[in-house]
Amino acid sequence: MNKFGKPLLMIPGPSEPYPEALTGLIEPITPHYGDDFLELYNSLIDDLKKLFGTKQHVHLYPGTGTATMEMALTSIIEKDDVVLFVNKGFFIDRFREIAEIHGAKTHQVAPDRYGERVDLDELGYTIDVLKPKAIVVVHSETSTGVLEDINAISKLIPDDSFYIVDFVSSFGALELNCDHNRIDFGVGYPSKALGAVNGLTPFMVSDRLWEYVNPKERDPKAFSIDLNVYRRFVEIWPMHPYPTSISPNLLNAMRGAVNHIKREGFRNVVERHYMVSEFVKDWIEDNGLELIPRREVSTPTVSVFKLPKHLEANKIIDYLISKYRIYISSTWLIGINGLRIGHMGATANMIYVIPTLEALREAIKKSG
Ligand SMILES: Cc1ncc(COP(=O)(O)O)c(C=O)c1O
Repeated sequence: MNKFGKPLLMIPGPSEPYPEALTGLIEPITPHYGDDFLELYNSLIDDLKKLFGTKQHVHLYPGTGTATMEMALTSIIEKDDVVLFVNKGFFIDRFREIAEIHGAKTHQVAPDRYGERVDLDELGYTIDVLKPKAIVVVHSETSTGVLEDINAISKLIPDDSFYIVDFVSSFGALELNCDHNRIDFGVGYPSKALGAVNGLTPFMVSDRLWEYVNPKERDPKAFSIDLNVYRRFVEIWPMHPYPTSISPNLLNAMRGAVNHIKREGFRNVVERHYMVSEFVKDWIEDNGLELIPRREVSTPTVSVFKLPKHLEANKIIDYLISKYRIYISSTWLIGINGLRIGHMGATANMIYVIPTLEALREAIKKSG
C-alpha cells in the first residue's frame, strides 16, 4: 500500500480530484433547475469561460469527452463534407472514425512517427487544396504526449472553416485562449487537469458556430448530440438551459475543483504543471529512458516514454498496483512498449509524483 492508504491515480485520467471536488460531490442533491441551481450554474459557467479563454458560449454536456466531440461533428458535418484531422494518436484517430460514421470525407495530416508535431507547411498546403469544412485538432494527445501548437494552427484556418479542438487533457492546466485562437468548438474535461469528477463535460462554442446551428435555419440530426437542440433549450427554457438532466452532484464537484483553482490562482496552477512535468521528464531521462515526444513538443500533463525490450509495461504496471496501489498507464493505445504517467490537476504535485517515481524505480529494478 502507498502512504495515502487508497488507490493513487497517476494514470492520465481519471485523475485524483481536488479535495474540494469530493466535498462538492456529497452535498445534498437538489433539482437541476430553478433559481438556486441556476445561480450556481451561471457562476460556474463564468469561471469555466475564463479557463477556456472565451467570452462566447460555454455549456456542460452530461456525458463523456467523446460524446461531446461527437456533438461537434454531428452539428457541423453534412454528408460528403471534407473534414481534416491533424496529427495522429488514439484520440484524433477516434474522431476521424466518428466523422466517417457521420458521412464525412476525411483526410489526416500527420508526421511519420508518434511524438512529433504536425508539419505546418504541409498542413497549410493541404488546407489550401482541400478547403475543409472543419479542421480537428487534439491539443494534448494523451496517447502520445504531444502538445499541438493550436495558436500556429489557428493562423492556417480559413474564415469559412470550423476549428474544433479537443482540450480534454489540457483543460485546467494550460491557458487555452480560445477566442484569440479563433476556436469554434472546444471540449474541456472534468476529471483530468480540472480535478473534478467524470460525467459532466464543459465545452465552448463560438458565436459563429452558434449561429450556424440556429434551430430556425437548420434541422437537428440527433437529439442528445446536436448543438442545434442545445441552442433551442437555451432559448426556450432559460430555467433549464440544457436539453436533458444534468447531475447536481457532478456540478457541485466541478464547482469545488474550480474554486480550488481560483484559490491557488490559475497562473500558479499552470506553472505547477510545468514544474512537475519537467521534474518527471528529467527523472525519465536521468534513468536512461526515452521520452516519446521531444521536450519542446510535450504536454505538461502527461509523461510518455518507451521501455527497453527486456522491461514489459504490463508487468511494471501490475507491480505498482499490487504492491502500492499506484496506477500508471501503458502506451498500448499506440502499439508501443512504454508507460504513461499522468500529472494533472491534483496529481501535478511532488507529494504524489515522488512516491510514484520511487515505486517505479523499484519495479524497474525488480523486472530488469
Ligand atoms: C485527448 C482525449 N480526448 C478524448 C478522450 C475521451 O474521453 P472519454 O473517455 O470521456 O470519452 C480522452 C480520454 O482519455 C482523451 O485523453
